[in-house]
Amino acid sequence: MKANITLLPGDGIGPEIINETVAVLETIASKYGHKFNFAERLMGGCSIDKFGSSLTDETLADCQSADAVLLGAVGGPKWDDPKAKDRPERGLLALRKGLGVFANLRPVKVHPALLDSSPLKPEKLTGVDILVIRELTGGLYFGWPKGRDVKDGRERAVDTLEYYDYEIRRVMELAFSLAKGRKKKVTSVDKANVLESSRLWRQIAVQVGAQNPEIELEHMLVDTASMRLITGPAWLDVVVTENMFGDILTDEASVLAGSMGMLPSASLGAGKNGLYEPIHGSAPDIAGQGIANPTGTIRSAAMLLRYSLNLETEAAAIEKAVDETITAGARTADLGGKLTTKQMAAEIINKIQNAE
Ligand code: IPM
Ligand code: MG
Repeated sequence: MKANITLLPGDGIGPEIINETVAVLETIASKYGHKFNFAERLMGGCSIDKFGSSLTDETLADCQSADAVLLGAVGGPKWDDPKAKDRPERGLLALRKGLGVFANLRPVKVHPALLDSSPLKPEKLTGVDILVIRELTGGLYFGWPKGRDVKDGRERAVDTLEYYDYEIRRVMELAFSLAKGRKKKVTSVDKANVLESSRLWRQIAVQVGAQNPEIELEHMLVDTASMRLITGPAWLDVVVTENMFGDILTDEASVLAGSMGMLPSASLGAGKNGLYEPIHGSAPDIAGQGIANPTGTIRSAAMLLRYSLNLETEAAAIEKAVDETITAGARTADLGGKLTTKQMAAEIINKIQNAE
């Protein structure tokens, strides 16, 4: 097949991990007879530097017309001035909104060979296989009003946690449909004892649950969920939650997998186009050294093949190669190893090429 993939390497380690992921995708293309056309664009801090905007209209339009978008990471100390008009993160949020990708899938699996890389006891980690579905285009990140003013002589800041019923329903329905192919259980995480938006969230979870009687629905308060992720993560399967809760819980969940560098994500909307990015950030402390772990991005590319291009065999081939590479002991610095980004990707490429 032919596919157009827009690359947004972004800032920090972004370009390093995207380069290696493209090499993996090229390997897949030549092995399975596909043609991937890659178009590289600026987004984030690099786009502010060049165009004065973290996401230009042209770049957004290119992303919208592509079959899929593969993103590295954005942000860094250079663009951290709180008074700046634009920030790299704004570009990312505008991209998510502009693509309409309302559901962010963040699978968290613990590779048996990495049980010792997590600070948690190995017996807690065995069998962990969680799919967090984070609502991505609503909630506190986008609610209005938002901003700063002076009220009663005091400086004030406002963010709004707002959800419409349809925004909750569409992500909830996706969670239930994905639960069908898994353990048939959905844990809906909210703060319904305090927040009105969470009470609407729970109400809709119950409605969607009633339409899917074969799936077990459990409600969990977000504070409890943050504890359960540490005390009994193997108990969780599909977890669905609002934007900011999902942001926080998935950083916490990444500790289970041994390193944030391992975890991929897929952001999906109503159509086939999707946005694929690792869950980690731009890691300015190690940028330019060529030592970042490319695994999260490579796994994101596997999700791209699966969800946007319907190439399940190819997606599984990447995931198998990653698993075997880890089993064989290949490790980048985040996991206590010595392999460079390039060497780690080369090990994975080698496994893809030599698989049956
Ligand atoms: C993530 C990141 C982003 C978010 C930042 C960079 C805006 O933390 O993808 O988890 O909060 O969504
Ligand atoms: Mg985050």
